[in-house]
Amino acid sequence: MIEKIAELVLNCNNCVVLTGAGISAESGVPTFRGKEGLWGKFRPEELATMDAFMANPDIVWEWYNWRRDLMGKVEPNKGHYAISDLEKHFQNFTLVTQNVDNLHRIADTKQILELHGNINRNKCADCGKVIEIEHDIDPGNIPHCDHCQGKIRPDVVWFGEMLDADIISGAFDAAERAEIFFTIGTSAVVQPAASLPITAKQRGATLIEINTEETPISGLADFVIQKPSGQFLPQLVEYIEKKKAGE
Ligand code: APR
Repeated sequence: MIEKIAELVLNCNNCVVLTGAGISAESGVPTFRGKEGLWGKFRPEELATMDAFMANPDIVWEWYNWRRDLMGKVEPNKGHYAISDLEKHFQNFTLVTQNVDNLHRIADTKQILELHGNINRNKCADCGKVIEIEHDIDPGNIPHCDHCQGKIRPDVVWFGEMLDADIISGAFDAAERAEIFFTIGTSAVVQPAASLPITAKQRGATLIEINTEETPISGLADFVIQKPSGQFLPQLVEYIEKKKAGE
């Protein structure tokens, strides 16, 4: 399997990688679904919504402060770094991530589209202006926008909200051009991200899934690797680099 995938990598120019929470699991970041269970006592579907924020902004900020604190303590794992190494082998490479944990940036991947925003950024809940705030947000004393006095919220996409139009069209453009599409560590159930691998496959790409569990798109994939991404990706990159060196 690894030989065939390496052969493809060395003979393709256009690659898209879609990642989900699973790529960060080996960094100690719990996933939303899957065997690892949910984020502590909170469920994303109940809290990552504008309704929840309007009703209980303090609870939503409590959850995001807990997540920010967690993200502040974790590092990229070998899977993140392997994706940055993989990027160097392609003329056109796009990483589309559903994660808001910033770990792909820290691992120095260059072409990143953050579909669901970035947990470290804040914005106004009313006018959407991105607001730089150096200190932690006190859930009991949420700051207000200096432009319109709206409440400050995390700059992440919540359930039921629209994604950034430029980012999502960039992701679909890349998926339509992809010759090889990796879907890594995502349960492939949240739209529109879950449509990206299907779009790529329909346009003739080779679809490779790396996930510790089966997902709704495992049946569509050309290769299904049920291994931790932090274990398989470094092996793949090492094999590619040896092959390229003519070993
Ligand atoms: N290696 C590979 N895959 C893994 C690993 C690992 N080490 N650990 C877990 N997984 C897989 C799980 O089997 C699961 O299929 O990662 C997937 C994580 O799925 P989710 O928790 O649903 O995360 P994700 O797919 O990113 O969720 C999409 O839903 O809650 C919203 O906005 C949130 O971006 C998130 C979106």
